[in-house]
Amino acid sequence: MADENAVEFIDSIPDGEGARRATELFAKTYGYQPAGVWDAPGRVNLIGEHTDYNAGLCLPIALPHRTFIALAPRQDAQARVVSSINPGSVATAELEGLEAGGVKGWAAYPVGVAWAMRQAELPVQGFDAAFVSCVPLGSGLSSSAAMTCSTVLALDDVYSLGYGSSDEGRVTLISMAIASENDMAGASTGGLDQNASMRCQAGKALLLDCKPGLTPLENVSQQDFDLAARGLELLVVDTCAPHQLNDGQYAARRATCEQAAAKLGVENLRQVADTIAASAGDDPSARRQGLQEALDRLPDPVEVKRVRHVVTEIWRVTDFVRAFAAGDMAESGRLFNASHDSLRDDYQVTVPELDLAVDTAREEGAYGARMTGGGFGGSIIALVDAGRSREIAQKIADRFARKGFNQPRALAAVAAKPAERVA
Ligand code: GLA
Repeated sequence: MADENAVEFIDSIPDGEGARRATELFAKTYGYQPAGVWDAPGRVNLIGEHTDYNAGLCLPIALPHRTFIALAPRQDAQARVVSSINPGSVATAELEGLEAGGVKGWAAYPVGVAWAMRQAELPVQGFDAAFVSCVPLGSGLSSSAAMTCSTVLALDDVYSLGYGSSDEGRVTLISMAIASENDMAGASTGGLDQNASMRCQAGKALLLDCKPGLTPLENVSQQDFDLAARGLELLVVDTCAPHQLNDGQYAARRATCEQAAAKLGVENLRQVADTIAASAGDDPSARRQGLQEALDRLPDPVEVKRVRHVVTEIWRVTDFVRAFAAGDMAESGRLFNASHDSLRDDYQVTVPELDLAVDTAREEGAYGARMTGGGFGGSIIALVDAGRSREIAQKIADRFARKGFNQPRALAAVAAKPAERVA
């Protein structure tokens, strides 16, 4: 293949450089210095997809790819935001009297954070902010959570609220980041992305339990995820296929799950997964039989598929955690593959680009590969032997070129640190 098809690997921006660039953009835009710089990471979810809003389990890591925000508080209630993507254009919003859905475009995400904090009666005034990011947009890697989480942490800090310094406090901030996305930006999202961005630790995967009523201490556990020590890499390929969460498909999946839970007489589909697992134990055929009995009670074949995905996916998260901890990469990879196939066939959120990228990674020797994030475009992840990422990413790019798909891009994921102040 010609060089022009050489696949691009997206580098992360080191903290110092990100802080410098965000500060420069701030000073150039507003004519004064920011109070500080904060950053928040994008994420990949290793497994446990479309389970968060079903009170299920998921397993994200934070990416080294981050969004930097330089910010200063204001005396009035005005919010001004600018991004390095379009440095000439400052979006302005008045927080006083602002209503849900009152800000359009990308500014809804950061402005919505301040709005959500004020709705929660936190003493937050206006702010000026400048963003620099290397989390690829629209890639299913949570660029929006990186933006809302960096904003909420910055506002918490400059308004001396003190939530950002403890895990429990961060859970409060996460709810504001989610409210911004849900109510101001109109993007329905569970809580996976924001929890990942605020709570993942370097070298760890975050086992997140989304069952309602759990305390912050109970709902996460940090799992070792040191790939290098196992001679492995996690390749991420952004298919660059068009991707939108707020186009109704995601909301439709959520609604179907809720309807199905109501028909099964449970509050959420997690209860189905737990009830079956409690009586069947680890025996796969007993689990299958228990699941079939539940599915037989659903009249609608679409509901059957959606529930089958959610229940089996919740089980796969625990199975993956166990297999990975035991060093069983064949089984870990098999679970990645089963997750993708279930998202393709039962949950029906993949697109041809995702399927082709996954198939190619598998054929090229990945232990396993799957889409990550909400789907309908976005990225895949593949567990591969150390040193093989570039070659496999190139194979995917070559196949995409032959198919006439957009040129994909790649990044190497290592489990990175959570949102924090960097300057
Ligand atoms: C998107 C949402 C998350 C989660 C995933 C699917 O990323 O924002 O809350 O539902 O899709 O697992």
